[in-house]
Amino acid sequence: MSPPPMPVDTSLLPALRADLLAKPRQLFIGGEFVSAVSGETFEVTDPATGAVIGHAASADAADIDLAVKAASRCFESGKWSNMAPAQRARIMLRLADLIEANASRIALTETLDNGMPLMMAFFGGGMGAAEALRYFAGWCTKLNGETFTPSNPGEWHAYTVREPVGVVGAIVPWNFPFVMAVAKLGASLAAGCTVVLKPAEQTPLSAVILAELVAEAGFPEGTINICTGFGKTAGAALVAHPLVDKISFTGSTVTGKSIVHACADSLKRVTLELGGKSPVIIFADADLAKAIPGAAMGIFGNAGQVCAAGSRLFVHESVRDEVLEGISNMARGLVVGNGMDPRTQMGPLVSDVQFARVTGYLESALAEGAQVLVGGGKLDVEGGEGGNFLAPTVLTETRAGMKAVEEEIFGPVLCTMTFGDDDLEAVAAAANDTQYGLSSAIWTNNMSNGLKLAKRLKAGMVRINGGMGGPDPAMPLGGFKQSGWGRENGRQGVEAFTEIKSVTINL
Ligand code: NAI
Ligand code: MG
Repeated sequence: MSPPPMPVDTSLLPALRADLLAKPRQLFIGGEFVSAVSGETFEVTDPATGAVIGHAASADAADIDLAVKAASRCFESGKWSNMAPAQRARIMLRLADLIEANASRIALTETLDNGMPLMMAFFGGGMGAAEALRYFAGWCTKLNGETFTPSNPGEWHAYTVREPVGVVGAIVPWNFPFVMAVAKLGASLAAGCTVVLKPAEQTPLSAVILAELVAEAGFPEGTINICTGFGKTAGAALVAHPLVDKISFTGSTVTGKSIVHACADSLKRVTLELGGKSPVIIFADADLAKAIPGAAMGIFGNAGQVCAAGSRLFVHESVRDEVLEGISNMARGLVVGNGMDPRTQMGPLVSDVQFARVTGYLESALAEGAQVLVGGGKLDVEGGEGGNFLAPTVLTETRAGMKAVEEEIFGPVLCTMTFGDDDLEAVAAAANDTQYGLSSAIWTNNMSNGLKLAKRLKAGMVRINGGMGGPDPAMPLGGFKQSGWGRENGRQGVEAFTEIKSVTINL
């Protein structure tokens, strides 16, 4: 089978590279591109080569203050929050069209900066973000309250309205930089909020393209402000700013907890989409021709740097050998390389730090008695000498209690366990034996068992016979337990950017 035709206009790449090196990327505040007050910039690197590909402005508290004030002025003016919902939707749809029209440039930038395969950056990143934004634009005209009949003596008219929460601080990670930024924007904007977005320091570049497109789409000045910079400076300043009404965060559980602490005094609204250690459960009656590639791509997709990655496999012992051999064969066959190469199926890890973190988990697993079935170390990739390429890895002899089984590795490393009979309570207990509860996958042709297990899993998302796949903007996304607070996407994800007001009138 020949690969599908390359939809990305790769002829843009040389000019894009030259422009990145020539001009440091700026902050976008109050509708203007500006340098950081301090004049500081930071290096942006390509994780496939280790090369510096450009520089971005390094926002600190002074820049965040300007951005938050711009967002706050815009919010209070009502220019966005009181705009007719249909008009807000039209501007969001215009931004979606601009994103689609620029999907090649966005994808090339994302692959340079993050390392992911270009097709993933194009379909999941640029095109996927445009679709998500269209979905959220639809909510502008559909958010509503309810009417009530109070039981108090007298005659009453009572209703609720949903109002935008105010200024949103949106903090996103580096694993799917563009689509995550757009999804957070989409939900906030549909609710009528204004936003200060802080992309991750590892991957700031695609958010700057977003700023350019926002400038073109016709939003009132200050509706969307984008500040590149570090977590400890720009991120922490955004969380601490008194004019920020809500923080919407995606990233590590550790940083999520620090944000909760930082918001304890102000009682800012906080939603958190955090880490996971999601189980994949394969029963003996599963369609293994689908379950095997599903489980493999659930952990090797985007090099395992996925919040919902299926990182703990539970397989029925009667099909264990077949399943592990199938996943191992896929691991060996995956083309690992520079995401710009159209043949690449798995790119590098995002940074040296992430590479060290993942290999640290591998070492600890081996020290605790795990065995490497396939992979287990750095891969030499042609032209990628400075890159962070890790071989897709399958571990056996892994069990509950090991660090690598308990903690989120966020790399292409699968821990594997077996179960002996279809005792659903025992399978659920093993799958639920984690501090996390983000996602889960079940593979079975016994739908009664599948649905019973779905009920018993403590996870915000369950997929039966579908693998981990990409999130759909219509489906609520978020976790039980330490995987987070609240939900993104769907009606709930938009309503999370509103406050409810009840109004009661004595007639
Ligand atoms: P992180 O949670 O520290 O970074 C995510 C975002 O938060 C970035 O934009 C960062 O600049 C910002 N940030 C960091 N510290 C902050 C603070 N004190 N206040 C406000 N914002 C702050 O994650 P990191 O260090 O990049 O990755 C560490 C681990 O986190 C990964 O190995 C993985 O396990 C997990 N992770 C999970 C993600 C998910 O989608 N659930 C995404 C990224 C990382
Ligand atoms: Mg980078």
